[in-house]
Formats: sequence, structure tokens, C-alpha cells
Amino acid sequence: MKLIILNNENEVAKKTAQIIGDKIKEKPRTNLGLATGSTPIKTYEYLVKMHNEEGLSFKNVITYNLDEYCSLDQYNINSYRYFMNQHLFSKINIKKDNTHFPDEDNFDVYDSLINSCGGIDLQLLGIGVNAHIGFNEPSDAFSLYTSHVNLSESTIKENSRFFDTIDEVPKTAITMGIGTIMKAKKIVLIACGEKKEDAIFHLIKGPIMPKYPASVLLLHPDLTIIVDNKAARKLKNMEEKCKIT
Ligand code: GLP
Repeated sequence: MKLIILNNENEVAKKTAQIIGDKIKEKPRTNLGLATGSTPIKTYEYLVKMHNEEGLSFKNVITYNLDEYCSLDQYNINSYRYFMNQHLFSKINIKKDNTHFPDEDNFDVYDSLINSCGGIDLQLLGIGVNAHIGFNEPSDAFSLYTSHVNLSESTIKENSRFFDTIDEVPKTAITMGIGTIMKAKKIVLIACGEKKEDAIFHLIKGPIMPKYPASVLLLHPDLTIIVDNKAARKLKNMEEKCKIT
């Protein structure tokens, strides 16, 4: 595991976009796993900038988003398809047919779809305040496959900031499983702000347990965690465990 602690959200986004951009330059037909939430928005802004100013091409890139709410169609401003169109896809030269989201119709074939194209080369992740990844909530077991899940009260409350009222937040979602995520060849997890300090602490300190879903990532052979100072606040004396840059 490699831990990169940077000064602020902007530096986190720039570094993350560079890693993604380098992967696309090395392998133009990259299979990218993408995340939503407020944290990756700036990363997507940098990728758009790299597209406009440096000619970074997404012509052959294929994307698989981590998750999607049930009951919101793609035109709903709170759907993750809408989010990705708004922040990235409409601003780069990606082909719409190459962008994939799990949904209620395809979730049982989503993993085989990913496998059939060679697997995810780079998976971008955010992290929930309760250490969820995708919509894999704290539970008694790690989920293996993309599936239909119930959202926890804390996630519904946390995500209600995007909706007019908390009652509008869907109670269920489709998410890549922990097993699906762990199969990615490379994982980059980003987190910013003090409200993520506990989640980052549990991710890095362990123990690996489904109560802290992100903790399983410690078993991944190519994991990079990029955080700002605020999200790293609880990481004292962790140098031995992580290669810190
Ligand atoms: C949602 C998404 C997660 C994301 C999390 C954190 O629940 N399903 O993939 O990591 O939010 O979002 P934010 O970056 O807004 O804190």
C-alpha cells in the first residue's frame, strides 16, 4: 500500500488525475472504474483540463461506474449517470456506448461484462464516512459480486445533502461488490476533509473486517491512498505500515 498525504483537496485531485492520465497514455484502451460523490469532482475537472489542453484522449477508454441508486432514471439530476455526464463524459471525447453503470436490469451480468473486457485496469474510489466503498455498507460479511443493497441510515443522511429532502434519497442501490472491486488491477482511493479522518484511520489501521468495508483494500497488491492533511489527521506513527510519500 502506498499512502500519499497532500496539503489540500486541489493537490489530491491533481495527483489523482495525473495517475489516471498516465494510465490512459500507457494503455489507450484502459478499462476505468469510476466513482461519484463530491470528492472526485475536482479530479474530473483536471481530467477535462488534460483533455482540452494536453490532448488526453478518451476515445478508446471504457468506463464502469461503481454504483447507482435504484429508482432514479438517468435524467434525474441525482442519478450517478447524470453526475458522470455532467462532470466528465459530456466534456471529453468518450463514446457513450463505452460508459457502463450497474442497474436493476444488468447487475447479475455486470461482473461478467467487466471480466469479458479484460477486467478493470484502474479503479478510482472515494470512501464514505462509515468507510463504505461504492455502496458496500458496514455489515457482517464482505460481498463478492455486484448486487442490490439497502443503504444504511448514516449513508442516507450523509447523501441527503444532494436532495431537497431526506425522504427523496433512495433507500436501495446497485453496487459493485467488494470482490468486484478487489479484482481491479490497480486501486486509487481518495479522501479529503476531517469528516473522513475516522474512515481513513480504520482503513489503514485495520483490522480487516466488514464493519469497515474499505479495510479489505489493505489486501490489495496495488493500492494507492491519496488524502489531504485533514483526512490524515489521525494517522500518527503509521510510517511502518505504509510507504508514505
Ligand atoms: C457515495 C458513493 C461512494 C462515495 C461516497 C463518498 O455514497 N456511493 O462511492 O465514495 O458517496 O462521497 P463524498 O465524496 O461526497 O464524500
